[in-house]
Amino acid sequence: MTRPAPVSPAEAVRYLTGITTTGTPHLGNYVGAIRPAVQASRTAGTQNFYFLADYHALIKCDDPARIQRSTLEIAACWLAAGLDPEQVFFYRQSDIPEIPELTWFLTCVCGKGLLNRAHAYKAAVDKNAATGADPDTDVTAGLFMYPVLMAADIILFNAHKVPVGRDQIQHIEMARDMASSFNHLYGAHFTLPEAAVDESVATLPGLDGRKMSKSYDNTVGLFAPPAQIRKQIAGIVTDSRAPGEPKDTEGSALFQIYQAFATPEETEALRRAYAEGIAWGDAKQLLFERIDREIAPMRERYQSLVDNPAELERILKRGAEKARAIATPFMGRLREAVGLRNLGTQAAGGAKKTEKAALPAFKQYREADGLHYFKLVDTSGRLLLQSRGFESPREAGQAVAALKAQGLPAVAALGPQVERPQDVTENELGMSLSRLMPEA
Ligand code: TRP
Repeated sequence: MTRPAPVSPAEAVRYLTGITTTGTPHLGNYVGAIRPAVQASRTAGTQNFYFLADYHALIKCDDPARIQRSTLEIAACWLAAGLDPEQVFFYRQSDIPEIPELTWFLTCVCGKGLLNRAHAYKAAVDKNAATGADPDTDVTAGLFMYPVLMAADIILFNAHKVPVGRDQIQHIEMARDMASSFNHLYGAHFTLPEAAVDESVATLPGLDGRKMSKSYDNTVGLFAPPAQIRKQIAGIVTDSRAPGEPKDTEGSALFQIYQAFATPEETEALRRAYAEGIAWGDAKQLLFERIDREIAPMRERYQSLVDNPAELERILKRGAEKARAIATPFMGRLREAVGLRNLGTQAAGGAKKTEKAALPAFKQYREADGLHYFKLVDTSGRLLLQSRGFESPREAGQAVAALKAQGLPAVAALGPQVERPQDVTENELGMSLSRLMPEA
């Protein structure tokens, strides 16, 4: 196992994802989320944040014992699956008070109309409409605010990429919206996050052939006792073909689950066995053995963590400390930016208008070589972008206009005509340019 090369935080691509702590992890969670995330966390040049979204869990679940149990099991699962808390940031949302604090800041810049359009909220309202109930029946403000809390999770750590399922893409877009509203009002503080949907990760079918999901009650527990897993696998729906009759791999849930664990060679072997008429009972036995081969080595670690909650608690507290080493000073700057300030310090710019005027600026000039240049500098005079020489002031002016209108894409389009200094990240440049863009 190779360790990621150390990267300076300014260069690393930051991935962040949250896991809602309701329910017990099943094979679908393992194949669709846990295993790919653990693999990705070992990629060089990345910084990875994984957290237990227990504030989000409160929106869906009002059973305290279940919240606690689920948090314990999910934390143990991720660690047992190989997540290395020394290499990544692994923490519990409710250990980071900066998250609810930022949630409030974002609440104040987020249009109510944006939240009205959130799929989960709209679905709840539509359901009420369908039954003729009051639109707000059983809709908590927590459900309505869900995307704001999620935006705070993400942008507090200036994540670049957020690995999520398709159903969460809208939430990431809303997080971008809130980040850019805040940036627009108070300066370029936040990175605009992007959803990272991994198309290559298959969704695992459940026992009945539909997507494996708690809501369909068709799951196989990840760390359930082996006897129970065997029993659940025996319950996978198959057709009625007898031993000796060739079987179809197409549409066979059993085959698909096998494939999610097997090497390509093993999958080929099972495909041949299907063609040769393997008995369903034997195929189920193969599947059980294949899954067990992957899971058994993790089970011991899982059990020892579940049996030793104090150890888990220590790991999570340590993760929170690491995360807060970033979040606390950042939140300090955000408090300063919005005007929650020490009254003893001189107001930096008094009225908001003067602060807004402090924008990065383009400077055009002519050099001794007779060519026309421009550069972009921030308010403290630091160089953010430098152009090469242009023949005419008009050409230089057109390049500046393109940069002001389009931001980063124009940097790419200008190619070697502009250069970003090494100490300026692309993200930083993008945020500075976005502040100069005309309002949409
Ligand atoms: N809403 C996500 C889900 O249900 C969980 C989540 C909460 C999350 N906060 C997040 C995911 C931040 C990514 C980033 O799957």
